[in-house]
Amino acid sequence: MKILVTGGAGFIGSNFIYWVLKNRDWEIINLDKLTYAGNLENLKGIENDPRYNFVQGDVCDSHTVNELMAKVDCVVHFAAESHVDRSVLEPAVFVETNVVGTQVLLQAALENKIKKFHHVSTDEVFGALELDGSKKFNEETPYNPHSPYSASKAASDHLVRAYGDTFGLEYTITNCSNNYGPYQFPEKIIPLFVTNAQEDKSLPIYGDGKAVRDYLYVDDHCEAIALVLENGKAGETYCVGGDSEKNGIEMAETILKALGKPKSLMTFVKDRPGHDRRYAIDHSKITKELGWKPRVTFEEGIAKTIQWNLDNKGWVENILSGEYQKYYEKQYGAR
Ligand code: NAD
Ligand code: DAU
Repeated sequence: MKILVTGGAGFIGSNFIYWVLKNRDWEIINLDKLTYAGNLENLKGIENDPRYNFVQGDVCDSHTVNELMAKVDCVVHFAAESHVDRSVLEPAVFVETNVVGTQVLLQAALENKIKKFHHVSTDEVFGALELDGSKKFNEETPYNPHSPYSASKAASDHLVRAYGDTFGLEYTITNCSNNYGPYQFPEKIIPLFVTNAQEDKSLPIYGDGKAVRDYLYVDDHCEAIALVLENGKAGETYCVGGDSEKNGIEMAETILKALGKPKSLMTFVKDRPGHDRRYAIDHSKITKELGWKPRVTFEEGIAKTIQWNLDNKGWVENILSGEYQKYYEKQYGAR
């Protein structure tokens, strides 16, 4: 099978490409614009693999997208603006890439008779759960996005379903929780806290630090996507989660303890506007139908992730010395 992966130079996309080349005999074309979040260094380990090809381009460019679609059987669509805080600063590019880009891909998928379009989405489309409740999101949860990021992802999910319902496009969607692992851009909480703690810099905890996220090790997410692509029923959605709910304070404490750093590095800063209180996923549908469940515990996953960051300081430093600096200063002040 030949697949078009969009956004394969980002965090989850690059992990997915490694996972597929190791675990399946599929061929991959990776279409990525190489925004601030796209990094070809992530793919150094497989850049000469004969089953892998890279094309630099924009998912909003219908000419490029159509040319590539003509060469593949299926699509796995990761490309997006992915960071909530950036969507507060600059919402327009989120609409352009996440909404318009998805529609351009869907139209090309239809015209090129793609066998399956898999859309990678997020649990953020469902809104926020009560902090103390036992309720979790599932495939029936109504959409209630709060940030420009989650609203743009919700719009993209609706477009995917509309192309299925209106034009008969064969699609699947996964809505998953917070991924973590190698190659995650250091604007996200885990790599940001690991990087700052190593340099004895403060760990900025938003608000009261009690907002909860469900953490999913990225390899588990990659396996879930592959299973849905192979065996998921067209027109279906699957929720994917890691059974690992942690709040900001717990995350900071875990990282500081692992690195032998003092709790005094924890600093409470202004809250994110519209900060969702809690996300949690009921993944029983994908477990029952496709036999998937998270294999990596939070304790194993965080230990591997911290070690990866320690072993790849050069990778982090290249990012810290690039255009990310400007964003960091705007968000948190001087490093
Ligand atoms: P990321 O920001 O690390 O990577 C995004 C990639 O998309 C980058 O390589 C970037 O260059 C590329 N890209 C951006 N705009 C593009 C465009 N116009 N054309 C082509 N390529 C473009 O993101 P990530 O964390 O790897 O997330 C990947 C996908 O998974 C996103 O759709 C995101 O919404 C979804 N998701 C992420 C998480 C998470 O925890 N990271 C959880 C649930 C869902
Ligand atoms: O839930 C899935 C989503 O997870 C994905 O759709 C997004 O693409 C991905 O970025 C992620 O979004 P979050 O906003 O949950 O991730 P982030 O790492 O930015 O924040 C995680 C939690 O940590 C959240 O409650 C905010 C808090 N936080 C984050 C940062 C960056 C802090 O307390 N301090 C920080 O500096």
